[in-house]
Amino acid sequence: MKIEKIGVLGCGLMGSGIAQVAAAAGFETVIREVSDDLLDRGLERINRSLERAVEKGKLDETQREGTLARLTGTVDLAALHDCDLVIEAIVENPDEKRKTFVALDQEVQEKALFASNTSSLTITQLAVATTRPDRFVGLHFFNPVPAMKLVEVVRTLLTSDEAFAAAFDVCRRLGKQPVACKDNSGFIVNRLLVPYLLDAVRGLEEGIGSVEDIDLAMRLGTGYPMGPFTLLDMVGLDTTVFIADIMFEEYREKRFAPPPLLKQMVQAGRLGRKSGRGFYEY
Ligand code: CAA
Ligand code: NAD
Repeated sequence: MKIEKIGVLGCGLMGSGIAQVAAAAGFETVIREVSDDLLDRGLERINRSLERAVEKGKLDETQREGTLARLTGTVDLAALHDCDLVIEAIVENPDEKRKTFVALDQEVQEKALFASNTSSLTITQLAVATTRPDRFVGLHFFNPVPAMKLVEVVRTLLTSDEAFAAAFDVCRRLGKQPVACKDNSGFIVNRLLVPYLLDAVRGLEEGIGSVEDIDLAMRLGTGYPMGPFTLLDMVGLDTTVFIADIMFEEYREKRFAPPPLLKQMVQAGRLGRKSGRGFYEY
């Protein structure tokens, strides 16, 4: 499986990061959003990120221009027809994802490999919506994508050895460290991280400390780079509630249940960094 051209679905937090990393690594990259307005916002995020990298001396001007030249934005699914790999990073909703993969399956060349960046859905339920479950993997990137080294590579009972090997190889070419995971809701990282984040919110509800003090304590007491509330704001509280609902539905264990405070913050439009306010104001 020769991978030279990558398609990315969704130009939100994760899709924009994945597309940036793919184009910077030398792949022809096409990113698809649902509207021109959302596409412009996503491409602007990539522009700012590349500018920061230049300012920090991580990238020179030629590399920045090369990255942008390899990147095309579109609202047309058919523009992904000749991609060798398509990575889906749309909203964490099983029906939306399945619907999107059914449409994608009809548009994209038969030999192409499909991947989902889902945080919490099993890959199997998405793969079987297509005619190519043998060429379907999970590629779970971490936020912020340009900075985080890990990609969880998920194989299902139906994934071929060739597809799995190609997915591993592409992660290395993207400058990432792949880790093999079984197809369980939350894979490795979110199986451990999500209960911790939700428990921080339950701790706040119970009054164990303030948002600032819980964050400070976890940073200084455990050496984590961010406290749980800073991290929740970065991930997005809406996305966290979607993930918690899916994992709770899967495991039926209280540790995965979204706490009432988190749900109310989402209902109130406090989604974290992306909406200007979550546990903190931005
Ligand atoms: N977008 C792109 N790049 C960013 C960024 C952003 N929003 N924020 C920081 N970076 C990059 C910087 O460019 C820098 O890159 P270089 O090392 O190449 O220069 C690097 O991150 C470090 O940045 P800073 O020195 O400015 O900041 P820092 O030292 O405070 O580190 C951090 C920032 C990397 C985000 C660090 O705080 C961290 O690791 N936090 C934890 C992040 C984490 O846990 N992510 C996983 C979330 S869970 C998930 O993703 C799975 C899921 O399904 C929900
Ligand atoms: P986001 O809300 O920032 O972005 C999702 C984008 O997808 C939106 O811009 C939306 O307009 C777009 N979209 C919706 N339907 C589409 C379609 N059919 N075609 C193209 N675009 C479409 O969400 P996000 O945080 O980037 O999360 C995306 C995926 O990545 C989710 O599955 C999430 O669970 C996963 N993920 C998120 C994080 C995180 O920290 N936020 C980390 C790892 C994985």
